[in-house]
Amino acid sequence: MITKKTVKDVDLEGRRVIMRVDFNVPLDSAGRITDDTRIRAALPTIEYVMERKTKLVLMSHLGRPKGQEKEELRLVPVGKRLSELIGRDVIICKDSIGEETKKIISGMQNGDVALLENLRFHKEEEQNDPGFAQELASYADVYVNDAFGTAHRAHASTEGIAKLLPAYAGFLMEKEINFLGKLLYSPEHPYIAIIGGAKVSTKIAVLEKLIERVEVLIIGGGMCYTFLKAKGFEVGNSLVETDKVNLAFELIKKADEKKIKLLLPLDHVIADKVEEEAKIRIVDTNAIPPGMIGLDIGPKSIRVFKKEIKAAKTILWNGPMGVFEIEKFSKGTRQIGKALASSRGTTVVGGGDSVAAVNAAGLSGSITHVSTGGGASLEFLEGKDLPGVVALLDK
Ligand code: 3PG
Repeated sequence: MITKKTVKDVDLEGRRVIMRVDFNVPLDSAGRITDDTRIRAALPTIEYVMERKTKLVLMSHLGRPKGQEKEELRLVPVGKRLSELIGRDVIICKDSIGEETKKIISGMQNGDVALLENLRFHKEEEQNDPGFAQELASYADVYVNDAFGTAHRAHASTEGIAKLLPAYAGFLMEKEINFLGKLLYSPEHPYIAIIGGAKVSTKIAVLEKLIERVEVLIIGGGMCYTFLKAKGFEVGNSLVETDKVNLAFELIKKADEKKIKLLLPLDHVIADKVEEEAKIRIVDTNAIPPGMIGLDIGPKSIRVFKKEIKAAKTILWNGPMGVFEIEKFSKGTRQIGKALASSRGTTVVGGGDSVAAVNAAGLSGSITHVSTGGGASLEFLEGKDLPGVVALLDK
């Protein structure tokens, strides 16, 4: 359970509130929001604060502009979407700091909501610059952090500002910490983790931690080929992180010692190129020909993985089983999503791609908790302290 104070622990009536949210949403090439989950996820806190007749200033980053103003990373579409969702005007500021912004904010009335421009247009945000944090803090009396997705970053708007104002968690932050905390500290068993995605390197720490906790660990997606290589299989042109093969071998050994079932795909959808037009074949793990690329798990793997999911009481899923953006290679990911959705256990999905897959398949309503955190949820499950959380007031 969260050990931090939340918005419920402070009298907000009529006060000036600055809230960090994670509105880092995916946009298409025309600048349209393709998935507004992160905006919707922050609504309970935004509405709760608004109902208390506050002057509410919201702030977020979008993308990685690295201290430069980038037209395509302005928060204008996000502000518009938010305005539609809350059914009222949102004052959209052209900057996050500076005289003009200060003037707009000092002119706000009780009940008003403003959104600052992308914080990362200033390099001081990621540098956790005290002066920048001070400027943000000067807009308000109370700080709320509801940006779980950015809680693993020690930035001015997540960590720096929390030292300058009384700092509280929002409801999304609370919910994420409670759900993921349950997985980390007191999961119901059998506990199974399904980890996919392209690279082993980004998941090493979480795999090491999971081996201590789960009964079954399933590895799919691009990263399974580094593990299959470690087991001595030929994987053709599939993605292999050569410098991580030894590590994969160690993880397999560790799982063996701990008597954990570490399951790798038994069969694969293969092709000679990663394209919609590619001709596909299904082969067993010991029959991937030279030159071919494994791009999804095959039907036998799906069957076995589904059986394990059905038997589990707690299921964590992070990372797709294949190149699911291409229809031909999306079946494994879709089937795993479906199996989670029909499970009677506690199901938690984290990581941008698996969350996108669950949303695209319309399954998110059947999942116990769909995390808004990618890197943040992984770091949390690794058992790391998240600086944005640590900085909040203790209960
Ligand atoms: C995310 O999308 O994971 C968060 O918004 C954090 O973004 P970042 O990895 O660019 O810090």
